[in-house]
Amino acid sequence: MTEKVFDFRSDNVGGVAPEILDAIVAASTGTAAPYGDDEFTRRMVRRFGEVFERPLQVFPVATGTGANSVALAALANPYGAIYCHETAHINVYECGAPEFFTGAKLVGLPGGDFKLEPAALEEALSLAGRGNPTRVQPFALNITQPTDFGTLYTVEEIAALTSVARRHGLRVHMDGARFANAVAALGCTPAEMTWRAGVDVLSLGATKNGAVNAEARSRRAFPGTTAGCSTVAIFFR
Ligand SMILES: Cc1ncc(COP(=O)(O)O)c(C=O)c1O
Repeated sequence: MTEKVFDFRSDNVGGVAPEILDAIVAASTGTAAPYGDDEFTRRMVRRFGEVFERPLQVFPVATGTGANSVALAALANPYGAIYCHETAHINVYECGAPEFFTGAKLVGLPGGDFKLEPAALEEALSLAGRGNPTRVQPFALNITQPTDFGTLYTVEEIAALTSVARRHGLRVHMDGARFANAVAALGCTPAEMTWRAGVDVLSLGATKNGAVNAEARSRRAFPGTTAGCSTVAIFFR
């Protein structure tokens, strides 16, 4: 009898789901227009619209870092500030890509359970010096759901954070590298956890759920750099 082996290193190490490999083979017959002008892309956008229960814009990118950078670049300017938890993936990893592509400063805030707290966000934004030409200006809030440490914001906690953000004129990005896990764990709908709770843009990861795409790995140049997601940036507004 062969023993079943579980590998808990990271969901990045898993293989590709057979259904996805079959779909790729099936899609690779015949011809299709490039640059998103093809039936697969139209079907993808329609399907995401159904899942999220509203019209939206979808931008497929190769990695989670790419999705976060594209999303944040749409929300923040070079003289801006992006607020996030101090342990957020955009702040700790991603080789400075969000700063590079936005030009904005990341402001990491503390918070128990690796989660942002509305009162701490309120205080930070009140002291941010809006209008002061010598200070970076608050543009965006980043929420990682689930967090890098596997903790979860409830839908109510997300709404409380986005309402503070909104009051201070910020737009909200959710890093959902493991979005599906959060939806399953909370038992809510994708819509409830995002735009209905005040999220403007979502990075939705798929590699960690068995998808396949570009692999950003260069052990020689960046020892320890791990696999990339196939990810989409979804704009609700
Ligand atoms: C929470 C979170 N966001 C973003 C990423 C970045 O994904 P990628 O490695 O595909 O750039 C990861 C990767 O593990 C992640 O865990």
